[in-house]
Amino acid sequence: MTGSAPQEPKYWPLKRYFEVYDRSLRDPEGFWAEEARKLDWFRTWDKVLDWSPPFARWFVGGELNACHLCVDRHIKTWRKSKVAIYWEGEPGDTRVLSYSTLYREVNRCASVLKNLGVGKGDTVALYLPMIPELPIFMLACGRIGATHTVVFSGFSPRALADRINDIGAKLLVTADGGFRRGTPMPLKNMADEALELTPGVEKTVVVNRAGIAVNMRRGRDFWYHHLLEDAEASVSVEPVESTHPLYILYTSGTTGKPKGIVHSTGGYLVFNYSTYQWVFDIKEESVYWCTADVGWVTGHSSIVYAPLAHGAAIVMYEGAPDYPTLDRWWDIIEKYGVTTFYTSPTAIRMFMAHGEEWPARRDLSSLELLGTVGEPINPEAWLWYYRHIGGERCPIVDTWWQTETGGTMISHAPGIELLPLKPGSAGFPLPGIDAAVVDESGQPAKAGEKGLLIIRKPWPGMLLTIHGNPERYQEAYWKRFPGAYYTGDYAVKDEEGYFWLLGRADEVIKVAGHRLGTLELENAAISHPAVAESAAVSKPDPVKGDTIVMFVILKEGFEASPALTKEIVGQIRKMVGPIATPERIFFVGKLPKTRSGKIMRRVLKAVASEVPIGDVSTLEDGASVDEVRAAYEALEEEV
Ligand code: WTA
Repeated sequence: MTGSAPQEPKYWPLKRYFEVYDRSLRDPEGFWAEEARKLDWFRTWDKVLDWSPPFARWFVGGELNACHLCVDRHIKTWRKSKVAIYWEGEPGDTRVLSYSTLYREVNRCASVLKNLGVGKGDTVALYLPMIPELPIFMLACGRIGATHTVVFSGFSPRALADRINDIGAKLLVTADGGFRRGTPMPLKNMADEALELTPGVEKTVVVNRAGIAVNMRRGRDFWYHHLLEDAEASVSVEPVESTHPLYILYTSGTTGKPKGIVHSTGGYLVFNYSTYQWVFDIKEESVYWCTADVGWVTGHSSIVYAPLAHGAAIVMYEGAPDYPTLDRWWDIIEKYGVTTFYTSPTAIRMFMAHGEEWPARRDLSSLELLGTVGEPINPEAWLWYYRHIGGERCPIVDTWWQTETGGTMISHAPGIELLPLKPGSAGFPLPGIDAAVVDESGQPAKAGEKGLLIIRKPWPGMLLTIHGNPERYQEAYWKRFPGAYYTGDYAVKDEEGYFWLLGRADEVIKVAGHRLGTLELENAAISHPAVAESAAVSKPDPVKGDTIVMFVILKEGFEASPALTKEIVGQIRKMVGPIATPERIFFVGKLPKTRSGKIMRRVLKAVASEVPIGDVSTLEDGASVDEVRAAYEALEEEV
């Protein structure tokens, strides 16, 4: 690495942070109203917060528009000639969109949507690779008051169909393909499979990205570039009420069916506008790169809405991190002069395993600030990132948040104050976020003791509800600790008040930062004709954080074999997607269960990880110690 000698970041005393934080919690509504004034509103709100627990509506009566905030606002200033998106395709092709180009593209896209009959209150499904059209369609939906639901392009046709049907989308936007490790992923073909199962979809728009052959059904499927020929150059912005749903994003929970998380326009944008500034200390000259896929919440908030609302210059990359060589990412940082880099612990561990010679080949001296998200980061990976990517001069913000929270909740906040970093700790709750670690009974856990993370006050970025299922919203997040939002995560708060996130406490598995529900995986396995029963658990993995291990009971007449293992894996990939590939399948005669019939995941986890069952004194499923031991011993004989 070249550049000047590393300089340790300058840190602030904790006291200053606590002053800001305590002030924000004394009057959260006043605090958030102050933040909301930083945005452009067409009409000011009548009420900051309408809180009828557990449903929060922020900035009620206020009117704004996401596309106006992220695009139109900037082209009235010098930013019209500023770069909005540096896009790099996997094959090496590039596109640079200034804010005025983005404005033009978004308007034409909005016109295409309108010409197809899309308007306020409609929902559009987007199944696109990482190409500029993905944010363009998102913003165009926002412009005309339509709600979007982005489905990660790594999800299977079946998963796409389930989401489209749940949401009732009439329009699907996809591409012929997108590049991944040198070959185009045939997205339109995959969408065709999904369309067999989605009678409600009337039309599809297909972006020509990869130049591969696709079937276009007359009257249903339209090439985007053909539709653009009839597009108007400008489409007026549709002001929406603050609680109008900007988007619905599906995520996995503890039941088999993914939850459609509904985010508002006003609260969500206020929260992301503020937290982005606090966490990334973004400056006019920053070049910001978040490596997530837009298909996940990180991409929604941290690639599209927060940076563009700030008029930041972002980098967007289509393909695989190690393609064609292991320095692709570092090459992109050097090429665009990235100052602010945000990625996942899994990616860091993957690069760490390949050695520091790869980043050392590139000039990373433009970097000023690093971030991580999606899973706990282990201190070794943190230190490697600090040394070999950040050159020991860039602070690292480890940001904790969820699809449901809309934006970052716990993190260092160099945009306010930079506090001393502790490798592996996410730092402190951001202002306005009343986070606490509690024991099973809801009492604050002692400093240094593991407990469950809850949020005790509503915040503007929080989900409005679960689409079509307000009861599930109440049940999943607000029932366990009445009056507080339950995150489903284990955490520790240390003596100084630093938060350490310790992974999921519920039946959600994070594989390479991707969120999957055990029940979804189990249902997928059971859909194979040979499978009678199944259980999915996580197993710690040195790179991916966790991997999936499945336990399967076969139906009468079926025998365990490598061929059957392959088939079941194939079935899971078909139902969910390649990200859900189990690392291993154990065939067993029975599954360990409590007397009430709940699977003892702890026992299965111990078997999967080849470790002794250990301490059985605290049990999430309420089984007796003897019951667990007996189940463990029985299972050890089986596998
Ligand atoms: C985990 C991703 C530790 C956590 C933005 C959470 C983290 C889940 C961190 C949400 C972090 C996210 N440290 N764990 N910095 N960030 N998580 O909805 O378990 O895909 O509940 O949102 O990721 O995953 P989701």
